[in-house]
Amino acid sequence: MRPIKNVVAIGASGTLGAVVLKKLLEAGKFNVTVIRRAGSTSTFSANVKVVDVDYSSLESLKSAFEGQDAVISLVPTFAADTQKAFVDASIETGVSRFIPSEFSANLANQKARTLPVFVPKVKLQEYLVAKAKDTDLTYTFIYGGGWLDAGPHRSFLISSIGETTKTYDGGDVPFSASTLNTVADAIVSTLDHLEETKNRAVHVHSLVTTQNRLLTLGKEVAPERSWDTIDFKLDDLTTKSDKRLAEGIADFETFLPYILRAIFDPAFGGCYEKTDNELLGIKEASEEEVREILRTLLKQ
Ligand SMILES: NC(=O)c1ccc[n+]([C@@H]2O[C@H](COP(=O)([O-])OP(=O)(O)OC[C@H]3O[C@@H](n4cnc5c(N)ncnc54)[C@H](OP(=O)(O)O)[C@@H]3O)[C@@H](O)[C@H]2O)c1
Repeated sequence: MRPIKNVVAIGASGTLGAVVLKKLLEAGKFNVTVIRRAGSTSTFSANVKVVDVDYSSLESLKSAFEGQDAVISLVPTFAADTQKAFVDASIETGVSRFIPSEFSANLANQKARTLPVFVPKVKLQEYLVAKAKDTDLTYTFIYGGGWLDAGPHRSFLISSIGETTKTYDGGDVPFSASTLNTVADAIVSTLDHLEETKNRAVHVHSLVTTQNRLLTLGKEVAPERSWDTIDFKLDDLTTKSDKRLAEGIADFETFLPYILRAIFDPAFGGCYEKTDNELLGIKEASEEEVREILRTLLKQ
């Protein structure tokens, strides 16, 4: 497989995307092109090459992907469908590796694949797997567990802004968690391990922890905060969501419990028994490093 030199990042202004873009640039060996949605107001520093693309136009995507070796998609969960056109344009322009926007539920787990919020991601995966059989396009699905340091709007693990933390099924369920840096490092390292990561899922994590352990560490580093908790049963939450879906209500409130199920219910594969940390050069975080991560997070 040819080495990756020219890399496209789509959604590079996002929560994960901004960290991935920084790491790609820091690597110092890629020609990076950011693809931005037509009409987007996101901004990038002057040294970043940005191309505005109409995602509904295959021609527009193809002209942006021409000459590229890898396409990394970092679009939000609700935009998973958009990526089918990215795959088609990648095939038509001879892109060699496509990394779809996964980075959440462990869809290598069959139960996780049935969760309604992930249906568009699963469909995209099935499409990619089929296309990789009869074209030169290859893919890697990257999973990193729950995000540890993504801030209040993207983190489901503990409250980082002093609100009551919602714990699930008692808060002692072990799960895999990653910092945004860990996920971004895994993406960049995948581009250096093309054969080993070809057409498969890779799993990385910064650590396995529990909500109650994170709460204890949070209390240690920020004792002045309120650390109240309220516990919910995942079964109750997803039963409500099933009902809302049956009534045709497909909003974030409906979908969140399925995301929580993917992280906090061990039967859904959220606690990785085996990882690709070693292959991809990812180090597990020590407890002191987690304290430091929480110190930074809780200062924001
Ligand atoms: N493991 C976890 O705990 C966790 C938590 C949250 C998310 N995730 C996963 O991580 C991935 C990225 O999520 P994120 O939260 O980083 O994304 P995000 O910040 O919401 O959005 C990423 C970027 O995508 C572009 N975008 C926004 N709306 C779009 C649309 N309708 N169609 C196409 N592009 C759009 C925007 O970039 P431009 O304006 O520059 O085009 C945006 O900055 C998702 O697959 C999500 O499932 C995982």
